[in-house]
Amino acid sequence: MSKTYKVALLPGDGTGPEVLREGVKVVEAAAKKNNFKLELVDYDLGGERYMKTGEILPDSMVEEFKKFDAMFLGAIGHPEVKPGILEKGILLRLRFELDQYINLRPVKLYPNVETPLKDKKPADIDMIIVRENTEGLYTGAGGFLKKDTLQEVAVQESINTRFGVERCIRYAFEVTKKRSKHNKLTLCGKTNVLTYASDLWQRTFNVVEKDYPSVKGDYVNVDAACMWFVKNPEWFDVIVTDNLFGDIITDLAAMIQGGMGVAAGGNINPEGVSMFEPMGGSAPKYTGKNVINPIATINAGAMLLDTIGESQAAKDIDNAVIKALESGKIKSMSAGKMGMGTTEVGDLIASLI
Ligand code: IPM
Ligand code: MN
Repeated sequence: MSKTYKVALLPGDGTGPEVLREGVKVVEAAAKKNNFKLELVDYDLGGERYMKTGEILPDSMVEEFKKFDAMFLGAIGHPEVKPGILEKGILLRLRFELDQYINLRPVKLYPNVETPLKDKKPADIDMIIVRENTEGLYTGAGGFLKKDTLQEVAVQESINTRFGVERCIRYAFEVTKKRSKHNKLTLCGKTNVLTYASDLWQRTFNVVEKDYPSVKGDYVNVDAACMWFVKNPEWFDVIVTDNLFGDIITDLAAMIQGGMGVAAGGNINPEGVSMFEPMGGSAPKYTGKNVINPIATINAGAMLLDTIGESQAAKDIDNAVIKALESGKIKSMSAGKMGMGTTEVGDLIASLI
């Protein structure tokens, strides 16, 4: 009997449903080829639900998600909802409550994809960023004093626990070892200024490193990392960093790999349920136009399959994406400039599985 995996679908806002439809199409094709099944359950979350019912994310839903093998997200963010409400109330809450403590971002330049970096080829842009996803400046620790007065004080604290830092670094060493590319893991921090937080990261890194003799440990300050991403991205293999630095450098990395049309990410709880998503937002102005690029979502689908243990199916998707891009039929990664529609790109990739 073939195996069945339960996957929660969260289409969300804007173009989220359109790209998720294509992601599901391709994941289903890979499942069929590899002889396993997916039980898909739709969850209606996002701006529309919030405006209609005032509900952002019911507690019961969070509990239900824990029973799934994985979650597949389109996009969160609605132009008529104040920025932050849905992002915090859905995306960040799920990361925290499901303890998805890793944000995994493969950064790979595919063939025929344009990078703004002159003279850089696919072989030069191929790294993985491991971002801590539940601590740092994202915990909401801090507060105001004398709010709305001229003496106002605002404090936002970066929380770094030895436990949280160590499990993230350990995960990154495992990724580096398994990938076995250059066997180099770069810790990205700011040890020259953040003499407490980055110091804890560096000391923890030095300890964990001893368990991985085959991996070479390396360090870069976050500001310098931004320079080298642009000048010498080929220097990087795997990078591990905290939540906010990771947020920032993964957007820079998305641009050098060809933009939000291709960048995918996973919010991973290695011991629980993980959630996969394209990095681009809900792109409201393109909603319903069939012009948005679904490749990032398709790549997120491959990451989902890899994480639940269907690595061959994940490879099949990656190869189909490469073939589709090599065919030259997709003219650009940008919305509206692909030379074909969202559904056609999905069809093309699914047909190549
Ligand atoms: C990301 C996003 C989120 C973050 C936002 C939407 C809260 O930018 O996944 O990188 O800052 O983590
Ligand atoms: Mn971000």
